[in-house]
Amino acid sequence: MPIATGITATTKPLLATLSGQRQSVPPVWLMRQAGRYLPEYRALRADKGGFLALATDPEAAAEVTLQPVRRFGFDAAILFSDILMVPWAMGQTLTFGAGEGPRLSPALADHDLRSLTPVPERLDAVYETVRRAAAMLDGETTFLGFAGSPWTVATYMVAGEGSRDQATARRLAYHDPAAFADVLQAIAAQTVEYLARQVAAGVEAVQLFDSWAGSLSPEQFETCVVQPNAWIVGELRRRCPGVPIIGFPKGTGGKLLRYVEGTGVDAIGLDETVDPVWAARELPAGLPVQGNVDPLALVTGGDALDRAVDCVIAAFADRPHIVNLGHGILPDTPIANVDRLLARVRAA
Ligand code: CP3
Repeated sequence: MPIATGITATTKPLLATLSGQRQSVPPVWLMRQAGRYLPEYRALRADKGGFLALATDPEAAAEVTLQPVRRFGFDAAILFSDILMVPWAMGQTLTFGAGEGPRLSPALADHDLRSLTPVPERLDAVYETVRRAAAMLDGETTFLGFAGSPWTVATYMVAGEGSRDQATARRLAYHDPAAFADVLQAIAAQTVEYLARQVAAGVEAVQLFDSWAGSLSPEQFETCVVQPNAWIVGELRRRCPGVPIIGFPKGTGGKLLRYVEGTGVDAIGLDETVDPVWAARELPAGLPVQGNVDPLALVTGGDALDRAVDCVIAAFADRPHIVNLGHGILPDTPIANVDRLLARVRAA
């Protein structure tokens, strides 16, 4: 007889970890695990004619979602899509030119948010991808959805492209705080809708990527990172009770503690600059952590990789831990090194 505990029993190691149950062998997945380091990804992308064509073709995107799971046996599949699908659905044009990074237009640095006409049906292909991939997953693999956090997405929407210092968005946040708050709120609202519909289509947990959270002053960190993510967490809990939320505020160091406390995320992703011994000691007891092997240790392989893996596993021996990188897998990562990482984790 199943007992109603409020916690759904699961045989999926990653989902169990997110609900606070430490696994003796920690589950593993890698950020950007579907991508250019895989020959089968490059072949399908070339065949479809580019990233956006691939990401909006549900059959192909579901296939790319599953490629790394089939090849390596990761504990999670992550939806194959991009954080910039949200600005595209909000009405900006989106292009991924070869070798030059994404471009969005018109840039909100010199265009009012109200000049955009939302095209929410641009996301329908993503929900169809989720349905198809979910139907193909086995009973042990957790299906992760994701979105960018409002600040990180705003840096691209405001500048119209990526940048090293996010100065265009930071300037707007200082110069016109009310207009910038409107941009963050519009992104947050679309993000909740996007994630709730991913859940309805079959994802079991979600990750909020805040790749540029580290570029802000403490005050802007509060208004641009903590508050919008707290709002998303609250709304998503209301719409999708019980679906775990992983926060990944990259590059925020000591501000991680404030992020965890202020947003209420269920688990925290750590980038490779965070000392895992410090994190294990300072983060709230029992909070699941994810990370934080250096992506360059994975490129390097050999002893450097073994040491990096052993180090995070030892540091998080007393709390629920998901092994991952500190940031996305690099395109020049040898496949044999990914096999080595998995073997090392599973032999530990
Ligand atoms: O983790 C996964 O495998 C799921 C898929 C995923 C992609 N992008 C696919 C992708 C995820 C989770 C993302 C997140 C993402 N996208 C972030 C946050 C995480 C991070 O890496 O900081 C950001 C900032 C973006 C925006 C973005 N998308 C940029 C800057 C670029 C170009 C640079 C690059 O890495 O290629 C992309 C393109 C992109 N998104 C690719 C993939 C596989 C490469 C496209 C290609 O050339 O095939």
